[in-house]
Amino acid sequence: MAPTVFLTRTLPDPIMRELRRRFRLRFNREDRPLSKAEILRGVRKADGLISMLSDAIDREIIEAAPDLRVIANYAVGYNNIDLNAARERGMVVTNTPGVLTETTADLTWALILSVARRIPEAEQFARSGKWTGWAPTQLLGGDVFGKTLGIVGLGRIGQAVARRAAGFEMRVVYTSRRRLPIREEKRFRASFLPLSDLLRESDFVSLHLPLTPESRHLIDRKALRRMKPTAFLINTARGPIIDEEALIEALRNKQIAGAGLDVFENEPAIPRELREIKEAVLLPHVGSASLETRIRMGRIVLENIVAVLTGKKPPNMVK
Ligand code: DGY
Repeated sequence: MAPTVFLTRTLPDPIMRELRRRFRLRFNREDRPLSKAEILRGVRKADGLISMLSDAIDREIIEAAPDLRVIANYAVGYNNIDLNAARERGMVVTNTPGVLTETTADLTWALILSVARRIPEAEQFARSGKWTGWAPTQLLGGDVFGKTLGIVGLGRIGQAVARRAAGFEMRVVYTSRRRLPIREEKRFRASFLPLSDLLRESDFVSLHLPLTPESRHLIDRKALRRMKPTAFLINTARGPIIDEEALIEALRNKQIAGAGLDVFENEPAIPRELREIKEAVLLPHVGSASLETRIRMGRIVLENIVAVLTGKKPPNMVK
């Protein structure tokens, strides 16, 4: 009998067809996240679980699933899963690295340009019917070309963001747990700086690191105080890397010029205070949201889950 797989959302059609072909598939047919009680019910008889980054797969869920052999997260980040509890139960956890790198880097650039050139404000104004014509001081933003881009975390996505900066002739500085070999730094035209110097020197600070206990609130009041009043903060990584309350304060006090955010501290909640700040460009976690990438992510999930459920080592096992 085919193994039972529980999927917490609906994935793009080609992936659903393949999942149905290979497994006894139980999935969420409604366009909403499942409650914890629903996930608990769903995993009870499942051999495999396909989870989303928005599902908290905690110890209670893991312990309620006696047959579960694999948790395949439909995301590169896996901070939503209690890895220790999964390990204790001998479950394999997998993610989808690599395939969403370029798409997320594109979105990072969309935020950099949007926040610097006030695109959402300008777009709303054009639609409003209030535009009376070109004016020399209308909707002035800041330049991107030739500025300094500070990348926090020069992993796959950080590197893809750095590559794109060459087209804007920017100076790229980065900080990372480990400094890259000089050859690699040259490849990305990036020079290493400690975080405090990067914050002081950058016109755009872009975050590209995973959420871990060490990176939680890495960008706090003190870090924000180090940034230039003309600088912009961009986050397409994970919301809790920024202390959101401190960011709201910094934006309100004009301590920094603006922020481009695709992720939030308590998703899907976005504080009203933040929503009211026009210098903040806010997106609903769409970093990897291109059809091609979401299909690629689905294929990776399939490879991983099929491997584990046929007794093989999956290509993307989380350590
Ligand atoms: C991920 O995969 O971790 C991304 O945040 C999805 O957009």
